[in-house]
Amino acid sequence: MVIKISKKKQIGILTINRPDSLNAMNREVLIEFINGLKKIQSEKDTRVIIITGSGEKAFIAGADIKVMQKMNQEEAFEFANLGHELANLIEKSKKPVIAAVNGYALGGGCEIALSCHLRIASDNAVFAQPEVKIGLLPGWGGTQRLPRVIGRGLANEIIFTGRNVIAEEALEIGLVNKVVPQEELMNTCFDIANMILKNSPNAIAESIKLIRLAAGTKLKKGLSIEAKAFSKLFESEETTEGLTAFVEKRSPKF
Ligand code: CAA
Repeated sequence: MVIKISKKKQIGILTINRPDSLNAMNREVLIEFINGLKKIQSEKDTRVIIITGSGEKAFIAGADIKVMQKMNQEEAFEFANLGHELANLIEKSKKPVIAAVNGYALGGGCEIALSCHLRIASDNAVFAQPEVKIGLLPGWGGTQRLPRVIGRGLANEIIFTGRNVIAEEALEIGLVNKVVPQEELMNTCFDIANMILKNSPNAIAESIKLIRLAAGTKLKKGLSIEAKAFSKLFESEETTEGLTAFVEKRSPKF
């Protein structure tokens, strides 16, 4: 199995398990990843998802270069679309997805991290979009998501130079939410997941949708959609429970 799935209470953990290749992703990894993620997403009692890499060296060292060396144009197009399918599945997940970046997040690895809703990095994490060094460009969403996360100027520099961004800089430029010692990485992700678990799943799912929409929508239209989504929550039992619990001075049960 190139993808391992485990569970800790209501948290689903998906681990890319190809440590000998620093979790580089070939077609098999992409397909197992997509299927594994769909399975976790469909489980009713799983409410937060964590994605990480096996071993202590890499989150994902990118798309598999050895496989790409033998690809023709048609195969490369299919490979790019498969990467997009995975990244879109993560980004559109109704359940928040946290990337626990435990080392190299290069090329496709950085792109998978970018599609997650939160990125928590260990202190040895290294990010890069080094594709131009091998005559490629970021093909799993890097040209689109990196500028949206860190701004166009910095994204230009990082993509044109292919240089490494170490954890400390990743935090400075807003590429990650938090940097922690490697031994604390998973527990930090569990702590954040547990904070999320206290909140309304429905309200979070709607927030994910609206925040994603913000990247490609005019402010006026985005605000109008937000007002509708906000008011629609008033029909939901979760919202009634949340509001009532506050008034009754107790914790809500979601
Ligand atoms: N594809 C295939 N195999 C990879 C790989 C990759 N992206 N990254 C690492 N590996 C393999 C190495 O080939 C090696 O396997 P072998 O011993 O069988 O040759 C094993 O993983 C360990 O790697 P190294 O010996 O190179 O380890 P290192 O510590 O010396 O270096 C590294 C680590 C800096 C990450 C280096 O492996 C490296 O530069 N890897 C490539 C990173 C990269 O360019 N990623 C982007 C790929 S392109 C892409 O992702 C396109 C896209 O946008 C979709």
